[in-house]
Amino acid sequence: MAVWVRSNVIDYSSTSLQARIVFHASFALRWLYTMMEISDSMTSKEIEKQITDLEPWFYEFNLGNGFRTKSALPTDVQEIFHTRLRMTQDVVVQHFKDRLSKIQCIDVGCHEGFYSMAMASLGVSRVLGIDVREKSLAKAKFVADTIQSQNIEFEAGNCEDLSIENSGRFELSLFLGVMYHLENPMRCLRNIASITTDLCVIETQVVTEVVGSTEWGAKDWTRPYQGVLALIDESDEFSAGNAETGASPVATCPSLRALLFMLKQAGFRRVDLIKPPPGSYEQHRRGKRVVCAAYK
Ligand SMILES: C[S@@+](CC[C@H](N)C(=O)[O-])C[C@H]1O[C@@H](n2cnc3c(N)ncnc32)[C@H](O)[C@@H]1O
Repeated sequence: MAVWVRSNVIDYSSTSLQARIVFHASFALRWLYTMMEISDSMTSKEIEKQITDLEPWFYEFNLGNGFRTKSALPTDVQEIFHTRLRMTQDVVVQHFKDRLSKIQCIDVGCHEGFYSMAMASLGVSRVLGIDVREKSLAKAKFVADTIQSQNIEFEAGNCEDLSIENSGRFELSLFLGVMYHLENPMRCLRNIASITTDLCVIETQVVTEVVGSTEWGAKDWTRPYQGVLALIDESDEFSAGNAETGASPVATCPSLRALLFMLKQAGFRRVDLIKPPPGSYEQHRRGKRVVCAAYK
């Protein structure tokens, strides 16, 4: 079989790449954390009240003019967001280059729209964020309205049901922090692959690899494992109304080999495992969270 998975394709130690990353990171962070145009249809009091009414927030958004949301997550864990952002936007910019303004993006499991807005800020022509949770979408819409973003839409949707018929096609899809909350990950990957024409960026936790084989039909007939999916019980968080869980309390988390196998089976012709940049979140550094660029 041809070498299909390329690992560590992004060398973050190269000076020019570092410069590019700093540029792209500062571009997005400038958008995320510095002053932005804020809505003229809402008064300051209304914005302040909405920020409070919509709490708790998962992400820190700087809405400009002194308005910000405060993340309920511990500060050290919030580094997940910055690492995901840096790695995602670098892959996206490297792949699409000056085509960015001509592509459409779907952000699957968009939560409060942090990455949808980051893609819009990179110049993507249209971004659609979907999520199973209306409460999170209400926050995403509030942020987009407040900063008067023109090219972002948010709607309710489950990746178990995604299809060309109900959502159309997208050059770029983001699937960040969702896989390990899914009951049917293979089905969701197939759906996402079917609506993606160029690139899908996937970020997920991965479980420790299990290497082995099993009897298959007779004592002497065996099949090797293609990685494993661990079953995770998210019942406690799910019934407590945690906005980050899946659509059911049953979650599966893949090993790296299983992830790569499933991506291939879903129809991606090549997958690059992206090397975490210096200063990444500790789980990314230890390989317990990975970012893949999967190409159609
Ligand atoms: C851990 S959060 C990650 C959010 C965001 N993508 C990020 O990277 O920060 C998981 C998100 O996926 C959403 N989600 C879970 N299962 C989903 C499904 N089957 N279809 C669509 N969204 C789902 C959750 O509601 C939640 O907003």
